[in-house]
Amino acid sequence: MSWMRALGSTGLAVSALGLGTVKLGRDQGVNYAAGFQLPDERSAAALLKLARDLGINLIDTAPAYGLSEERLGGLLAGQRGDWLICSKVGEEFEGGRSRFDFSPEYTRRSLENSLRRLRTEVIDIVLVHSDGDDLRIIEELGTLQALEQCKREGLIRAFGMSTKTVAGGLAAAAASDVVMLTYNLERREELPVLDACASLNKGALIKKVLAGGHLAGGYGDPVQASMDLVFAHPGTSAAVVGTITADHLHADVEAARRALKPPPPPGSG
Ligand SMILES: NC(=O)c1ccc[n+]([C@@H]2O[C@H](COP(=O)([O-])OP(=O)(O)OC[C@H]3O[C@@H](n4cnc5c(N)ncnc54)[C@H](OP(=O)(O)O)[C@@H]3O)[C@@H](O)[C@H]2O)c1
Repeated sequence: MSWMRALGSTGLAVSALGLGTVKLGRDQGVNYAAGFQLPDERSAAALLKLARDLGINLIDTAPAYGLSEERLGGLLAGQRGDWLICSKVGEEFEGGRSRFDFSPEYTRRSLENSLRRLRTEVIDIVLVHSDGDDLRIIEELGTLQALEQCKREGLIRAFGMSTKTVAGGLAAAAASDVVMLTYNLERREELPVLDACASLNKGALIKKVLAGGHLAGGYGDPVQASMDLVFAHPGTSAAVVGTITADHLHADVEAARRALKPPPPPGSG
């Protein structure tokens, strides 16, 4: 399997690993294995350069990731064409708490705010940032339809949903271009969503591929085992890994590239 991959039928080609940017913008209300400080501008710029040099073109952000969008707007200036940006609508994080609004009116306003913060004319992928009530959002609130309209208007290139349930993931796969789902060594229950993305030719972005850094022992090399798991599935378009540590990014890319390498032919050694 190759490093650059079709994102379902969107016409977009994503690198097998994407860079998640929660830790570029938000250090409150997060559940990582170890404490951390937001990287300063220099380290953040160096991290993005490293990601690019390692072949990554996908960057994942959200209004709910604190300063992430605002910072990316500055950091990506002059290199916007090198990246596919994935952002979200529906969740805001203000005063240390999440607030949700999935209405079509707010969806558009949120997207306009993201375009401004990211200093771009178009966002490549926009996902509904679910609060967990996936089916209600999909069936009753009109959020996906609002994003579909924004796509028609050229404000975004593809739309979908970051889901939290199997039923929601299946419904999102049927009704949109891209699903972001959790799939890792310790949480495999959303596998049917990945199967559906494969059979419907929809984009599938894996979040929490390293279980947020909470992987228990017993997997040998847990990073390699995680990448082997997600890339063994034909439905995976890309795994979005959330790191601010250069050595970890190197290790994650190496593990993903090893996972994608075809096995040696029989009898070759
Ligand atoms: N609802 C949603 O839409 C949603 C929810 C969760 C996540 N996401 C997206 O998915 C991205 C990834 O999810 P995540 O950050 O929660 O989880 P993750 O990628 O599974 O884990 C990230 C954690 O693993 C550590 N890590 C990374 N590479 C490592 C390595 N080689 N060795 C040891 N530790 C390593 C990171 O620490 P270091 O920084 O020190 O490397 C970080 O604390 C997020 O940034 C976000 O973009 C979306």
